[in-house]
Amino acid sequence: MIDMAKEEKYLNDKLLLNARKPEGKLGGELIDHMNENHEGLAKWSVSHLDISQSDIILDIGCGGGVNVRRFLEMTDEKVYGIDYSSLAVERSKDLNRESVENGRCEIIEGSVCDLPFEDGSFDIVTAFETVYFWPDFVNDLREVRRVLKDGGIFFIANEALPIERDTRQQELIELLDMNIYSKEQLEDYLQEADFRQVTCHIKQSKDSFTGDDASWICVKALK
Ligand SMILES: C[S@@+](CC[C@H](N)C(=O)[O-])C[C@H]1O[C@@H](n2cnc3c(N)ncnc32)[C@H](O)[C@@H]1O
Repeated sequence: MIDMAKEEKYLNDKLLLNARKPEGKLGGELIDHMNENHEGLAKWSVSHLDISQSDIILDIGCGGGVNVRRFLEMTDEKVYGIDYSSLAVERSKDLNRESVENGRCEIIEGSVCDLPFEDGSFDIVTAFETVYFWPDFVNDLREVRRVLKDGGIFFIANEALPIERDTRQQELIELLDMNIYSKEQLEDYLQEADFRQVTCHIKQSKDSFTGDDASWICVKALK
């Protein structure tokens, strides 16, 4: 006889595994989920980011492209998205089809480790719910810094900080092999990568997947 609880957990795990790199049918379902449920974190965090009409913006780990769409409404300049998942690239392009076609938006398949942009290309680089998965954090931060203009801003928004977790939450973090950074770790790593004027905001809220208590954090750092 099938154990329904085990079956449900197995399917949930398979769905969640796609947060690291969305692929196939389940990856598509997870992108739908993220587009809807990351909205609270994105709106709250972006309220701490001053964007001007002349800013050229890159969103790394752009997933389903909702933040690219948001930025297209906030700047008159070009908005770029990059993600190493071909499905995320396809979905971001679909969501921003008109802007892609008229040249205001470009979505590229690639990794944060080796950004396909010239030095000093961007006024703002953002990373929503993605730094947990970056493979070589300080070097990846240096790569982000390279593509920023002098005085440019790097912006991180995460819905997870290290706290006492119940077994299921901890299991999901291990399953996804996520790095959950504290405020102090983010500050230290950013400084190690030569960023300056690091500022953080924290808000008590809910985890977008489990609905459990969670702390949201957004971090702004200057090149
Ligand atoms: C949890 S999703 C968040 C998506 C989107 N930013 C959002 O807030 O809804 C993480 C995204 O980061 C991407 N990602 C993870 N590691 C990456 C890397 N090394 N380079 C580029 N993208 C990466 C994944 O493919 C995935 O689309």
